[in-house]
Amino acid sequence: MGVINMISNINIDDAMTIKLDYDLPEYPKFDPSYRRAPRRESHLTEADKALAIKNALRYIHPDHHAQMAKEFAQELEEHGRIYGYRFRPEGKLYGKPIDEYKGQCIEGRAIQVMIDNNLDFDVALYPYELVTYGETGQVCQNWMQYRLIKKYLEVMTDEQTLVVMSGHPMGLFHSHKMAPRVIISNGLMVGTFDDQKNFNRAAALGVANYGQMTAGGWMYIGPQGIVHGTFNTLLNAGRLKLGIPQDGNLAGRLFVSAGLGGMSGAQGKAAEIAGAASIIAEVDDSRIETRYTQGWVSHRTGSLEEAWKIAKEHMDAKKPCAVAYHGNIVDLLEYLYNNNIHVDLLSDQTSCHVPYDGGYCPQGLTFEERTEMLDKDPEKFVELVNKTLQHHYEMICKLHEKGTYFFDYGNSFLKAVYDTGIKSICKNGENDLDGFVFPSYVEDILGPCLFDFGYGPFRWCCLSRNPEDLHKTDMAAAEYIKAHNRRYQDYDNYVWVRDAEKNKLVVGTQCRILYQDAMGRMNLALKFNEMVRNGEIGPVILGRDHHDTGGTDAPFRETSNIKDGSNIMAEMATQCYAGNAARGMSYIALHNGGGTGIGNSINGGFGMVLDGSERVDTILKMAMPWDTMIGVSRRAWARNENALSTVAEYNELYKGQDHITMPYVADDAVVAEAVKTMKG
Ligand SMILES: NC(=O)c1ccc[n+]([C@@H]2O[C@H](COP(=O)([O-])OP(=O)(O)OC[C@H]3O[C@@H](n4cnc5c(N)ncnc54)[C@H](O)[C@@H]3O)[C@@H](O)[C@H]2O)c1
Repeated sequence: MGVINMISNINIDDAMTIKLDYDLPEYPKFDPSYRRAPRRESHLTEADKALAIKNALRYIHPDHHAQMAKEFAQELEEHGRIYGYRFRPEGKLYGKPIDEYKGQCIEGRAIQVMIDNNLDFDVALYPYELVTYGETGQVCQNWMQYRLIKKYLEVMTDEQTLVVMSGHPMGLFHSHKMAPRVIISNGLMVGTFDDQKNFNRAAALGVANYGQMTAGGWMYIGPQGIVHGTFNTLLNAGRLKLGIPQDGNLAGRLFVSAGLGGMSGAQGKAAEIAGAASIIAEVDDSRIETRYTQGWVSHRTGSLEEAWKIAKEHMDAKKPCAVAYHGNIVDLLEYLYNNNIHVDLLSDQTSCHVPYDGGYCPQGLTFEERTEMLDKDPEKFVELVNKTLQHHYEMICKLHEKGTYFFDYGNSFLKAVYDTGIKSICKNGENDLDGFVFPSYVEDILGPCLFDFGYGPFRWCCLSRNPEDLHKTDMAAAEYIKAHNRRYQDYDNYVWVRDAEKNKLVVGTQCRILYQDAMGRMNLALKFNEMVRNGEIGPVILGRDHHDTGGTDAPFRETSNIKDGSNIMAEMATQCYAGNAARGMSYIALHNGGGTGIGNSINGGFGMVLDGSERVDTILKMAMPWDTMIGVSRRAWARNENALSTVAEYNELYKGQDHITMPYVADDAVVAEAVKTMKG
């Protein structure tokens, strides 16, 4: 084995101590009951195919190249990607209690828990293809990377940092105890090439990973991650658009949407918690089965009449329900419109950030037919997707005329319709620079009501996997919020966390999401670290969704309520990421695409391990306010009213330590007068 693979007299095998085992693992069994990803688009020339195989062989000892080259070629042919299936560990992966992992530092073990949780059969969308959620969001590109990352995490000390580029562990480098243990980037592309087609080629070559948001940032916590945001969005939409009082809920109201997948699977549950009756269309019966057995939808049917009957009965009784309708959303909308049924709130959460890669199912095709057409006739598939998207939009407009409130729920639905050639969907009638005729949920609701104050999707996982630890942290959080109840948002958050356990939100590890502002996040983090220190609970990892105040630059979503023209800039997310690194978060990630697709956003997040130490207290005090206030500062600079008041309060609170620049706000009349004097 020793003297082989000599390039320029370098013995590659001897030059590495951290590498995959010499022996090839046995080819694992694949359980046919789990969903498999459709074949992916790749655009490869013959030379590219050779390059893709050669690239994948970089992980493999040359003694096995002849065998593995053929195996990789077959995977590329059949799946459009090389996943290295042979290297998938046999059986179920899941986030085990932290003590069961090997490692030289707590972060190395904690991060392994999070990676495995993202690949849990109960959690991941296509677990064999390493896809956690959002149709294409992967933990890393292939199973060789998975194994190698774990090897690095097992040996990493608390004075080293692991560099991970699009799933590839580039190596361990010396750093220091207050530095991040892992720095991740996913799918970041050079401007000229930053489009879906080039990304697909790069992914097929094995050099680009689509991290979505938390999939490649190893911070996904199952559909619970989005339930709280959806609950907030629906409740506040009801307050703003339906006249629901501050202390009321959506009882007797109808919410309609599509998608019961990774994130979209949260919609029924969130609507139920907010008191509404809801009907959610889903073309894939296996996803309905998952959500039904998890208790995330209360009813399921393939009949439009029955779906409406169940919803109507619950509306009349002012009781909540979540009905999964097995079928296409466009069929459901046609039925509701033709039968003159009033829909109060309407949205969509199909994977429209990748409509042509399987994210959106055309009307008239079953889910199975859609998968087959994607493989056999992708051009026809594109044609049908476009036709359905246009008709879908037409139905939304018709319902809107009858008084329905429609909002884009951050899945690039409106952008996808625009991309089919519908210019009338643009606010300026020409292009997407000023947004679309229907506001996104961030523009109307989540931005002004939450992000501008700094409220965002703070989350934590109890690394012991012990439900009692989660219970204790829930109670501590409820107590803290009750004592700091300043606004209706705080009260909503209190109710949320008070009832969270009862609402059975956990899928996978013992995690919780809880919207909090900068001070709330920091104080809860310090409280949990103290609880770890006192031995009340085991270690905890904190994180957040990238879908946050400061974590994401995405003009069609997170930053759609930033109106100073800077919505096309991607500097905030980058600064947020760099700042979190500088302050010592345990691991940090920066991605292209997120929930809105390649080239449409830059987004980042973090993970922070609480081991009870004073070192961690020091990091939390620096990093937690920064991570949120960078976003609030940007929003204040864009003249958003609620962000201005939040920054003014912060400047007072942190006097002499932090200071944020604020804008002088000009009078529109003065500006208009000045413009009139201009000649050109
Ligand atoms: N607003 C947010 O906070 C937020 C958060 C996460 C994800 N998202 C976005 O929401 C979208 C969905 O995310 P996900 O993780 O649930 O993806 P997913 O791919 O797991 O789920 C989408 C579901 O839609 C179904 N579907 C597709 N076309 C359909 C049709 N025409 N009719 C009925 N059902 C159809 C699919 O079968 C699938 O189950 C993504 O674009 C994602 O980026 C938004």
